[in-house]
Amino acid sequence: MDERVSPVRGAGLLAGKTVMISGASSGIGAAAARLFTGEGAAVVVMARRENELKELVLEIEASGGRATWSVGDVTRPEDVDRAVAMAVERFGGLDGAFNNAGYAGVVFGPLHELPQEDFDRIMDVNVRGTWNCLRSQIPVMLAAGHGAVVNTASSAGLIATGAPSPYVAAKHAVLGLTKAAAAEYGAHGIRVNSLVVGTTRTEMINAAVEAEPALKEAFVARQIQRRMAEPHEVAEAALWLLSDRSSFATGSHVAVDGGILAT
Ligand SMILES: NC(=O)c1ccc[n+]([C@@H]2O[C@H](COP(=O)([O-])OP(=O)(O)OC[C@H]3O[C@@H](n4cnc5c(N)ncnc54)[C@H](O)[C@@H]3O)[C@@H](O)[C@H]2O)c1
Repeated sequence: MDERVSPVRGAGLLAGKTVMISGASSGIGAAAARLFTGEGAAVVVMARRENELKELVLEIEASGGRATWSVGDVTRPEDVDRAVAMAVERFGGLDGAFNNAGYAGVVFGPLHELPQEDFDRIMDVNVRGTWNCLRSQIPVMLAAGHGAVVNTASSAGLIATGAPSPYVAAKHAVLGLTKAAAAEYGAHGIRVNSLVVGTTRTEMINAAVEAEPALKEAFVARQIQRRMAEPHEVAEAALWLLSDRSSFATGSHVAVDGGILAT
């Protein structure tokens, strides 16, 4: 690599960058906000729950980081636009985006037994939400001539993991959107990748286990490491993909799945 464009040694991996994180009120998104700000980024955290976002921002500021929040639902384009505008107004641009908000539903079972509304909601949050984020973020990145985007998919984006079928379909679609966007904007300096995430100890999994306790054992057993990930372990891969260290990675995915795909 040309030394002139190598990241500065000793500086945080995201030093000088502004990153928007959706679905940041808990789990992987909140862990990412802590990690990214520790690596020098200014972040705009977005989700629907204001109290959680506010507490997260105060925690980050107390440890010397830069963060602000924007309350919104990723299924509503105007809410996403507001978060993007906040990044530009408050921090001067948008270098990276972690499009991480997602919803799996809490009913696990064969598709003919799932509530019809689960299909709509799961598609809406995961697919339309990612689409809304890309549509809003890309113009700012095009104007700047650079950008890096990471969309949170899942091992269910590549195989039928036993997750609800609309979620399997939705996360396959997230991988498709990632590839299409990467192809369309690669020549404009914008990289788009996704994370293929294995079972992670977050509210999403807690909700499923609460609804169906037997799921807990299955969630652990399907990973060859025989445990769930902690949210910060997943955020580490997003950090790399958003940093200049991953400069030749685009249109692809990084799997942080405890080995689900290996078996
Ligand atoms: N936990 C897992 O096992 C697992 C596995 C694979 C993929 N994922 C994916 O990881 C991502 C993060 O989930 P998590 O595991 O941290 O769970 P989580 O429930 O803790 O976090 C999900 C976040 O998305 C937010 N969110 C949900 N719907 C939203 C909407 N319409 N608008 C804005 N925000 C919304 C939630 O409020 C929350 O902040 C999701 O995309 C999920 O599909 C999780």
